[in-house]
Amino acid sequence: MRSCYCGEINTSLIDQEITLCGWVHRRRDHGGVIFIDLRDREGLAQIVFDPDRAEPFAIADSVRNEYVVQITGKVRHRPEGTVNTDLPTGEVEVLGYSIEILNKALTPPFQLDDEHVHDDIRLRYRYVDLRRPVMQNNIRLRSRIARALRDYLDGLGFLEIETPMLTRATPEGARDYLVPSRTHPGEFFALPQSPQLFKQLLMMSGMDRYYQIVRCFRDEDLRADRQPEFTQLDIEMSFVNETEIMDIMENMIRHLFQEILNISLGDPFPRMGYAEAVQRYGSDRPDLRNPLELVEISDLMADVEFKVFAEPARQDNGRVAAMRLPNGNTLTRKQIDDYTDYVGRFGARGLAYIKINDIDQGMEGLQSPILKFLPEDKVQEVLKRTGAKTGDVVFFGADKNKVVNDSLGALRDKLGVDLDLIQGDWAPVWICDFPMFEYNEQEKRWDPLHHPFTAPQSDNIEALKQDPGSGLSRACDLVLTGSEIGGGSIRIHNPDMQMAALDVLDIGEEEAKEKFGFLINALEYGCPPHGGIAFGLDRIVMLMTGSSSIRDVIAFPKTRPPVAC
Ligand code: AMO
Ligand code: AMP
Repeated sequence: MRSCYCGEINTSLIDQEITLCGWVHRRRDHGGVIFIDLRDREGLAQIVFDPDRAEPFAIADSVRNEYVVQITGKVRHRPEGTVNTDLPTGEVEVLGYSIEILNKALTPPFQLDDEHVHDDIRLRYRYVDLRRPVMQNNIRLRSRIARALRDYLDGLGFLEIETPMLTRATPEGARDYLVPSRTHPGEFFALPQSPQLFKQLLMMSGMDRYYQIVRCFRDEDLRADRQPEFTQLDIEMSFVNETEIMDIMENMIRHLFQEILNISLGDPFPRMGYAEAVQRYGSDRPDLRNPLELVEISDLMADVEFKVFAEPARQDNGRVAAMRLPNGNTLTRKQIDDYTDYVGRFGARGLAYIKINDIDQGMEGLQSPILKFLPEDKVQEVLKRTGAKTGDVVFFGADKNKVVNDSLGALRDKLGVDLDLIQGDWAPVWICDFPMFEYNEQEKRWDPLHHPFTAPQSDNIEALKQDPGSGLSRACDLVLTGSEIGGGSIRIHNPDMQMAALDVLDIGEEEAKEKFGFLINALEYGCPPHGGIAFGLDRIVMLMTGSSSIRDVIAFPKTRPPVAC
């Protein structure tokens, strides 16, 4: 029906007769001449109809935005002074000879170039929304990214292998979606939260290197970087250690950025322990482009009069931390109150601060509601540790570890955005040495930080059982500019260790056999040491397209509760 895409016309086609198909992006009447900007996947072409050709002119006059038309005409240079250098096709136009309306369209629910359309409307008319050039670019880039990843892994001898969708539960920390079985009334399949168990079985089956771009299902709340149905690039390898996995995977990510965005990410990616990340950034997925850091001052505050600081400083699971904001003493009272409300969302009971008006004037040069509670030597030591200078403000968090880390970590992110502190474009970092388990105070039990098949660093089974809180795992996450884009580990390949890890999670022998018996059995039939990782494809595409939500890189994302069936 057409000879080329609208976005492909250029001076090489001058004087040729061509046929284009697409959507009427805009129709303009310029003193008797009608201009149509015709749009397709590849771009815009300007078509001109003049009144000499009465029949096509009348049809061109009758079309409206988003009509679908087929146009034949001759390519010519745009007249002097009308060349549009912003448009790849801007040097040429098509003199229209004929036009056929292939389909009419109702007035679109929003202008395609309006950037402030409500998400609900965009998603209700997703087929119109997806016509917008930015969305076309996102979906196209997603396809190119998937292709580049496949090509890269194929080149390294990885096999693409599919795993079942109607299966048993895989524990990844979310709830399962269940599908009732017609043939076995009262019984259910679970949709996979990840192909974790299957990819491990594939290693036991001698497949050696596996990958899959695969849909995963997790019944959890929607967020900008979370969907209940999302896509992983899932990978597993045999006879490897964690360093080899990280090396291969960061090469792949570097290659991807180079090939798709022509960006070089640096080599190697920095590697940081979980404890250090939490200590310095309050988070295990720090955005390293943000220069703000938390500084430990618990040791200084244990014996001060100010109970708000002294109590958490003395507690095992408490923390007092300071965070210096350079040039922050221009913040108004109102702004500080707003930030205090903000940290309150993360459980903080206040946001103490010291403004440094003049560092050379001792206590006189400082301004703060808490100075009266703190001895001068402690204040001076805080200023020294944080590197405070005249014009800065230092914020404080004092509470349980989790509250201080969550609240100051979030404040760090917020100040980074509000005050434009982010430096540079990309900051990949591997976070390693995670604890194996963390204690869930509410449920009074241990939870795995990753999944229960993650290997511990020590192979001392008794130590794992007796002191689950102190063992570290062989897991690593890849964090890119504050987003966790991938997570993986070396797996347990010893059946006794696997039973011990499940035991810590209160999954007794019987339950373990019922839920994971096939995996535990397989460990006894010649299981190679193995490990792997999964990347959140949606998150990678979100970051690479500069989108603010994974919804913008998924053709048909979820926004609302499901329709009952
Ligand atoms: P994990 O649970 O860390 O690991 O998932 C891997 C990556 O998937 C992405 N991700 C999500 N993306 C969008 N919406 C969600 N709801 C969502 N949940 C996770 C994240 C995350 O880093 N089986 C293990 C991997 C392994 O050990 O090999 C797993 O699934 O980017
Ligand atoms: P107060 O004595 O309650 O008036 O608190 C004095 C200052 O300490 C105020 O600026 C509070 O915002 C702050 N503050 C109170 N509790 C905490 C806390 N747990 N962590 C950090 N700052 C706090």
